Amino acid sequence: MDTRERIAIVGFMGSGKTTLGKKLSEAIGHRFIDLDELIEEKSRMKIKDIFKYFGEKHFRELETRFLKRLAQEKEIVVSCGGGIVEKEENRDILRENFFVIYLEIPFQVCLKRISGDENRPLASLETDRLLEIYRKREPLYREVSNFVLTEDHNIEDLIELLKAR
Ligand code: S3P
Repeated sequence: MDTRERIAIVGFMGSGKTTLGKKLSEAIGHRFIDLDELIEEKSRMKIKDIFKYFGEKHFRELETRFLKRLAQEKEIVVSCGGGIVEKEENRDILRENFFVIYLEIPFQVCLKRISGDENRPLASLETDRLLEIYRKREPLYREVSNFVLTEDHNIEDLIELLKAR
């Protein structure tokens, strides 16, 4: 299987996964799917309400369920929620079924972008706690990724890489 048929983008909240995903999918002619949006659509609830009424654990279960479904699809670019790497099961699914791009953006940049965002339940956490989460996830994003894209990286190079099969 050519894993580039199925691409996943991981990275912290506010790293720009959705923007990158849309750009990439357009460039290579894949369908773009935002995993958070898919969960909201299928459960007919906003993420913040899923967290509020059913808790984070339930949200994580939904994440795994839909990630598994997407692992069966072809020619897709999936932008994952920042917490996707928390569960080992998700990391295995990503590694085995996707070409994974880690969008590595400095914490302070992400923080600026997410602060005050009421649609992101974790964005209201204290900065110290968020930094702790960032540091804990950083090696996990790296561990599942096939390609790391940093702020000053040229997206065109990545597009060429994805097109060259
Ligand atoms: C989360 C990130 C969010 C969303 C949920 C939990 C996280 O996605 O899945 O609020 O645990 O980091 P984004 O990374 O797209 O903000």
